Amino acid sequence: MNNIVSPSILSCDFLNIEKEISHFEGQENLWIHLDIMDGHFVPNLTFGIPIIKQISAKTGLPLDAHLMVENPEFHMEEMKDFGLHNITFHIETVKEPIALLDKYRDHYQSIGVSVKPNTPLSTLSHELLTKLDLILVMSVEPGFGGQSFIESSLDKVKELIRLKEEKGYHYQIQIDGGISDKNSEKVRKAGVDNLVAGSYIFKAEPSEYLTKVASIR
Ligand code: DX5
Ligand code: ZN
Repeated sequence: MNNIVSPSILSCDFLNIEKEISHFEGQENLWIHLDIMDGHFVPNLTFGIPIIKQISAKTGLPLDAHLMVENPEFHMEEMKDFGLHNITFHIETVKEPIALLDKYRDHYQSIGVSVKPNTPLSTLSHELLTKLDLILVMSVEPGFGGQSFIESSLDKVKELIRLKEEKGYHYQIQIDGGISDKNSEKVRKAGVDNLVAGSYIFKAEPSEYLTKVASIR
């Protein structure tokens, strides 16, 4: 199991993104999580391609793009040369996920799929599961930071662990939404490799960010 923490800059100071990210520079097992929203798949809107291009030129940290958009292929195409570490699209938005994954296999080190809280794991076929590097279990409804963790998402994590052991899949499991030091231990124990946390980290003072990261490892 990995022990990755992915601060989500959705809750950072948007007028100082570069400075906000700089606090994590040099940390091991830490990805910067980028929530890309289009105002359609989710009601909210964040940032897009030009800003992510600028971020990618400024940081040495692995970048993790979470596409909450109706047409993820557009973003995967436009960002394919940005050197992003991982890109995750929502299974609810794609008719042919395997074709999309195959098309961009060589452009991203890691490709993931996300499931919303009410989307069953049965939407992920065996063939898709064999190819995925990451599965992002949403533990809140996507769209906003600062929501409460949905407990039943741990059942999904446990099922993904069971399937992984039974079939030998290689995906890592990431969870996103409502993560704090109050629930991180049980989430890790359930088998999650990679914890996304937005408001828990960024509501603290910048001098406390790394302490917050350490508290959920
Ligand atoms: C929500 C986003 C999350 C968000 C999590 O749609 O995908 O990444 O930043 O925020 P917190 O950690 O505050 O729940
Ligand atoms: Zn996210």
